[in-house]
Amino acid sequence: MSTDNLPDIITIDGPAASGKSTIGLLLAQRLDYLCLDTGSMYRALALAAIRQGIRPENEEAIVDLAHACDLDIVPLAGETDGRQYTVLLEGEDVTWDIRLPEVDATVSQVSTYPEVRMEMVRRQRIVGQRGKVVMIGRDIGTVVMPEAPLKLYVTATPEERARRRLLDRRKQGHDDSFEVILADVMRRDHIDGSRTHSPMRPAVDAIIIDTTGRSVEEVLEEIMNLITGFRPEETIVE
Ligand code: DC
Repeated sequence: MSTDNLPDIITIDGPAASGKSTIGLLLAQRLDYLCLDTGSMYRALALAAIRQGIRPENEEAIVDLAHACDLDIVPLAGETDGRQYTVLLEGEDVTWDIRLPEVDATVSQVSTYPEVRMEMVRRQRIVGQRGKVVMIGRDIGTVVMPEAPLKLYVTATPEERARRRLLDRRKQGHDDSFEVILADVMRRDHIDGSRTHSPMRPAVDAIIIDTTGRSVEEVLEEIMNLITGFRPEETIVE
């Protein structure tokens, strides 16, 4: 597909387990764009804190860690374990460790700190400004890349998101209860949506995509239609 008339930066925001990461990755593959899932960066930081015995309430230490830690997201290099990219923390492959329940439990708290967010946003913009990128997160359309030409906000009901998370966890061999996962999804929605610094919300010009009861393929087609019909604002002649 020619990428000449396509939006150079596509932002996908939305709540936990809304399908935004799956959709964003597939979209990036179709367009041959880079995919940056910014949640992985906050997760890697939360993991670094756990490993160093820093409590999530210790804002000062978490902020220092955010500045000091060496984290990177790199494309696949032949791995066949189902990953879509590799997350490196101090050079170590932590792609699967950042999905552990311990990280789920602390990452929202860690990502509420304004100075942590400023540092992560700075790192994310360096990648975004290179263009040809799909960026996934909570505040990409509102704060990180507000100038992006196409902004999507992908969502689904909490129950549907909890069901999806449960299926993922079962595939990984874990036996969690639906109620526990639903409570965690709702807890994270609350923290992500009510923090004072860059809370999760759709940008005013974002297109809302509700994935409840819909397959990944269906949603991807809808987005591809939006993209192929996309015309940069300055070229629209009424
Ligand atoms: O999308 P995820 O579940 O991997 O994100 C993990 C956490 O990181 C989420 O609870 C909120 C935070 N996050 C954020 O605050 N801003 C982003 N751009 C991405 C994630």
